[in-house]
Amino acid sequence: MTYQNYSLKQLQQIDAAHHLHPFTDHKELREAGSRIITHANGPFIYDADGTEILDGMAGLWCVNVGYGRDELADAAYAQMKELPYYNSFFKCSTPTPVLLSRKLAELAPKGVAQVFYGSSGSEANDTALRLVRHYWALEGKPEKNRIISRKMGYHGSTIAGTSLGGMDLMHKQLGGAVPNIVHVMMPYAYELALPGESDHDFGLRAAKAVEDAILEAGADKVAAFIGEPVMGAGGVKIPPMSYWPEVQRICRKYDVLLMLDEVITGYGRTGEWFAAQTFGIEPDTITTAKALTSGYQPLSALLVGDRIAATLVEKGGEFYHGYTYSGHPVACAVALKNIEIMEREGLVDRVKNDTGPYFAQALQERIGGHELVGEVRSIGLMGAIEIVKNRATKERFLPAGSAAVTVRDHAIAQGMMLRATGDTMILSPPLIWTRETIDMACERIARALDLTLADLRKK
Ligand SMILES: Cc1ncc(COP(=O)(O)O)c(C=O)c1O
Repeated sequence: MTYQNYSLKQLQQIDAAHHLHPFTDHKELREAGSRIITHANGPFIYDADGTEILDGMAGLWCVNVGYGRDELADAAYAQMKELPYYNSFFKCSTPTPVLLSRKLAELAPKGVAQVFYGSSGSEANDTALRLVRHYWALEGKPEKNRIISRKMGYHGSTIAGTSLGGMDLMHKQLGGAVPNIVHVMMPYAYELALPGESDHDFGLRAAKAVEDAILEAGADKVAAFIGEPVMGAGGVKIPPMSYWPEVQRICRKYDVLLMLDEVITGYGRTGEWFAAQTFGIEPDTITTAKALTSGYQPLSALLVGDRIAATLVEKGGEFYHGYTYSGHPVACAVALKNIEIMEREGLVDRVKNDTGPYFAQALQERIGGHELVGEVRSIGLMGAIEIVKNRATKERFLPAGSAAVTVRDHAIAQGMMLRATGDTMILSPPLIWTRETIDMACERIARALDLTLADLRKK
């Protein structure tokens, strides 16, 4: 029986009776009823009432080629008919993960040419954490196992992912984190730069926090530093260009591995295949998922640098780690087709040379001057709008996050899906957005801001 046999109300009731949603206050949701999205096409999603909404979040940072791609459905169908599943354990392989691995090695930054598959970004980060600690143990330095991460970083929601991440509210519910992970300051100039400090200098100071953490533990105790090139769920925090090269220099100086979490930034988001290329760095591991299949299938790929791979292969023996769905043939077939579409349509170049710069300019000119906006920023097709009470002092509305939620609700009512994280509005649209789509989005967001301002004035 298909969902069309049910009314919206019935679906909401069944949802409330049986479905526990991720990152949700269940009581609140059950009182309000969930928004049920039933179909989608190109840049638009449609809810059960038939309302058309421009999807400013590409689902959840993933649908980079947009919705309704028959080619991806056809690739999945063909692979399911030929071989729906076989594992990659016990000296077996299937063709699609083999070919996808070569393709990813071709696209990845220099020196990163091996791939370990999972089904989600969280799983891939579990793999990454185990792999770097295992690497140092194989190198005869098992005590070199501390990981440095950042406050407000997001690395997924498994126990390892939560421990690596720097979200206090998540830590509080964990009941015991993976040991030996420390968190340092984030490179978030809007709130953390000192008066008069240049972006460049702030970037170097934020990188210095990594060096301080290494020195505090002793370099012989530190395995790796992990970070999102641009912090996503934490509020699209774009570091100054000075930050990553300096972090890389520090990591090399103390022989600390550099792990990038590109679950959001991978596959074109910042105008290169990987943000490592945007920031000019060569990491030891790159965690990827989401847009690898544009969200059409669950798949993650941990890209592993030559140094770690060589030790694993030469000295490792069996690595006791993997998942039933590592290298799933259907997910890998969809990923291959997804990358083929991105290449054929030149989506990454388009973000770099056309839509990315246009997006930055449009946000600046049409949103940046609004009375409620403290700052707009973007890189490629990833952007943020800071909601403030006072533009000069950066004072926020109370309670924290409330004004941003009002903006979000108005935006959705205007046919514009975006997300509120704290007091920051977030945008991460499909890479198929054109200049016209960007214009449409800015118009709707500006209207949502006006409506929010009118609401706030009534209070
Ligand atoms: C940077 C980053 N890492 C890891 C994850 C976790 O990925 P998943 O939800 O697929 O487990 C996310 C999800 O948003 C993410 O943004």
